[in-house]
Amino acid sequence: MIELKNITKVYKMGNETVRALDDVSLKINDGEFVAIIGPSGSGKSTMMNVIGCLDKPTSGEYWLNGKDVSRLRDDQLATVRNRNIGFVFQMFNLLNRSSALRNVELPLRYGGVHGHDLYKRSVDALDSVGLKDRVRHRPVELSGGQQQRVAIARALVTQPSLLLADEPTGALDSHTGEEILRLFRQLHEERGLTVVLVTHDMNIARHTNRIVAIKDGRIESDVS
Ligand SMILES: Nc1ncnc2c1ncn2[C@@H]1O[C@H](COP(=O)(O)OP(=O)(O)O)[C@@H](O)[C@H]1O
Ligand SMILES: [Mg+2]
Repeated sequence: MIELKNITKVYKMGNETVRALDDVSLKINDGEFVAIIGPSGSGKSTMMNVIGCLDKPTSGEYWLNGKDVSRLRDDQLATVRNRNIGFVFQMFNLLNRSSALRNVELPLRYGGVHGHDLYKRSVDALDSVGLKDRVRHRPVELSGGQQQRVAIARALVTQPSLLLADEPTGALDSHTGEEILRLFRQLHEERGLTVVLVTHDMNIARHTNRIVAIKDGRIESDVS
């Protein structure tokens, strides 16, 4: 479970300070499918980075699976991240010279998995996003939607309980974007995966079960 308690994040740029998150409290239960929506600059990515343990809040507490992770050291945060969380980004962030399979294998290799186990788990992850027949393709040989599916397989291959996606459809046309949302819904329904995605697009957010709207670093509404 995710619980943000009075989270504030302040960025200092010279003399100027930006309050990217301003006293945000939010609870997300295991197995929820949630969209965080808001205009550009509203604090969505900052919130995602805090939830994903990529960044620490300036103040407040962040409880993840019953543990306050807001004061952990960077290496401890990395461990929490690697064990629990899969990430998907707008620009896919794939290695362009490597095959789909190689890209998906990477997080497992870092975790010391090798041999047949490495191969089988990676092919299974690609199969679960509908790309079993594309394992040898490189990103340039795939469509945008297929590249995002490879990125989703890479996020899932370590079997995280939480999938975080920051503008996952931002680089896709609206039809392909909706396909990606259907895939998230399927993963959420079949595996009980908690899915939290950030978007500025209501047509994407409406595919989820709960919409949290933020503006100027504050939660404006929270509708299930
Ligand atoms: N690393 C940073 N350093 C300074 N200011 C930042 C940084 N990241 C974000 N900001 C500022 O914080 C605010 C929220 O940014 P962000 O969370 O990226 O918004 P969104 O994802 O909703 O577009 C913006 O005003 C942005 O300029
Ligand atoms: Mg953003």
